[in-house]
Amino acid sequence: MITGTSTAQAIATGVSDELDEPLVDLEDDGTAVTGDGVTVEADDRIVVIGSTTTARAHLELMELQERANAFDPGEVVTVIPYLGYARQDKLFEPGQAISARAVARAINASTDRVYSVNPHNISVLDYFDVPSAPIDAAPQLAEPLPEDLVDPVFLGPDEDAEWLANSVRDTYGDGHVENFDKIRHSATEVEMTAEGKDFSGSDVVLVDDMIATGGTMSEAVNILDNQDTGRVYVTCIHPLLVENALSRLHRAGVQSLYATDTIDRSISQVSAAEPIADALAE
Ligand code: R5P
Repeated sequence: MITGTSTAQAIATGVSDELDEPLVDLEDDGTAVTGDGVTVEADDRIVVIGSTTTARAHLELMELQERANAFDPGEVVTVIPYLGYARQDKLFEPGQAISARAVARAINASTDRVYSVNPHNISVLDYFDVPSAPIDAAPQLAEPLPEDLVDPVFLGPDEDAEWLANSVRDTYGDGHVENFDKIRHSATEVEMTAEGKDFSGSDVVLVDDMIATGGTMSEAVNILDNQDTGRVYVTCIHPLLVENALSRLHRAGVQSLYATDTIDRSISQVSAAEPIADALAE
């Protein structure tokens, strides 16, 4: 059976549909509620799904794991569509904490297995003591693209995003893959270089793992503005969209913007439910 926190309602529903497993609410009184009055059997697997977008969301996931364990099921599997705090995966300054390790340790305590959709850096999964695996939702980002892209370029705004662009291109089935180079000056400001890269005449699909402040994608779109490109699509797995990210992208001239539902936002046009269900079905 499947249950989701408030940050994963759409995706939990999608996974339940894909797997044809009941979607339940785990109540305070220890009952699992569905329209069909499902009861939890001793060898059942409970899949707990929650995106840890905020500290509150992280706590909510741990509380739901706790409730799942109270049923003493056969297995508790935790699926984290968006794993927050993952960018703090090492010590950048003395005195800081490795937040990614801290949250992994907390999540470990109440689960038998963990899946995370496109974690910022796959090495953060090493912080989990229980078995863990990544799920790749990048192929879903090819779905909304029109079939008639002209000489398409799948473009990562930095080197780390190139493999995601490659994954989208492979699913689309045509085009080539490129990346810009990025230097981050602060949490909101980035500098991007595109020496020798001119995509005039091509339709461009920009692909990144997440959009947070929108600084990275705005900078990439600014560069493309100075080239005679065709249509430009801006897409990512995790639409975190903090502060004024949407208006910042709008001001940069972004017209076509979409993401997956690992974080439920207005631009969450495609669902990561299918690759999650595939992983759970293995
Ligand atoms: C950075 O390494 C990530 O892949 C993203 O490019 C970054 O997190 C996007 O953040 P922002 O939207 O704030 O530039």
